[in-house]
Amino acid sequence: MDQQVSGADINADQVDYWSGQTGEKWAEGQDKLDAMLAPFGKAAMEALDLKPGDHVVDVGCGCGDTSFELASRVGPMGSVLGVDVSAPMLQRAGERLGDAALGHLRFAMADASAFGFEPEGTDAVFSRFGVMFFRNPVEAFTNLKAALRTGGRLGFVCWRSLDQNMWVSLPREAALKHLPAPEPVNPDEPGPFAFADAEKVTDILRDAGFHGIVLERFDTKVRNNGSLDEVTEFVATMGPVSRLLDEVEGEVRERAIDEVRDALASHHDGQALRLNAAAWIVTARA
Ligand SMILES: C[S@@+](CC[C@H](N)C(=O)[O-])C[C@H]1O[C@@H](n2cnc3c(N)ncnc32)[C@H](O)[C@@H]1O
Repeated sequence: MDQQVSGADINADQVDYWSGQTGEKWAEGQDKLDAMLAPFGKAAMEALDLKPGDHVVDVGCGCGDTSFELASRVGPMGSVLGVDVSAPMLQRAGERLGDAALGHLRFAMADASAFGFEPEGTDAVFSRFGVMFFRNPVEAFTNLKAALRTGGRLGFVCWRSLDQNMWVSLPREAALKHLPAPEPVNPDEPGPFAFADAEKVTDILRDAGFHGIVLERFDTKVRNNGSLDEVTEFVATMGPVSRLLDEVEGEVRERAIDEVRDALASHHDGQALRLNAAAWIVTARA
């Protein structure tokens, strides 16, 4: 793995966030998370229409699942560069790379908004839920556009709004019955739902110099395998609801988790939890 210094202090809070406990949890839960997110990544890859021999950048590649899939799609004549700021997640990606020994796939620890990509050296920029965390998204996408050859493609998947994503909103509302009201979410702050507004995403990409910008709805259910207790434990320790629960402890926390379990029960079929999810598949050209 290239050990690049992360280039932009502007994203320091996100670098800390993804390099700390959150990144460690993602690295530990990698198999499960990849299974849950795979349909979204595949939909964005299909939209990108990759060809053998393409050179691709995977932005916010995390533990590398999509980078491996991209590498197999472009083949040994192409290449994939996975870029991420999270040391624990990239360490997991590196371990997996060791097993696979793919010469045309490499990872770099760097802030994608400031990384010195080879100018116009890339055919396609891809991301599965890795582009909503830039403090200055226009600057970040301007840097990504500079990496693309003229006519090169951008394709990523991002979440639509919280209220359309029941996999978060349902357990969140249940937990909040027992927790202090959180600060209202500022849609301009970096975070999972920062790209929910189609007009805002279109403006960011246009200001960064992209054209042919298309946002398509992608609606499915997130499938979380395991018993009701296992999926409740997962929701309580990973992702947006766990961040709320981390604010409290003791009996209050236990009551909130029981409430979450009760809310999830009617969406659990004995094998898995299935809850509605809503994303944008975004494509554009440089
Ligand atoms: C929701 S996770 C998605 C990870 C991975 N794409 C997946 O689908 O499993 C978001 C990822 O974006 C990365 N990230 C956040 N800000 C970044 C930045 N400025 N440059 C590169 N990666 C970043 C995080 O470290 C994290 O790995």
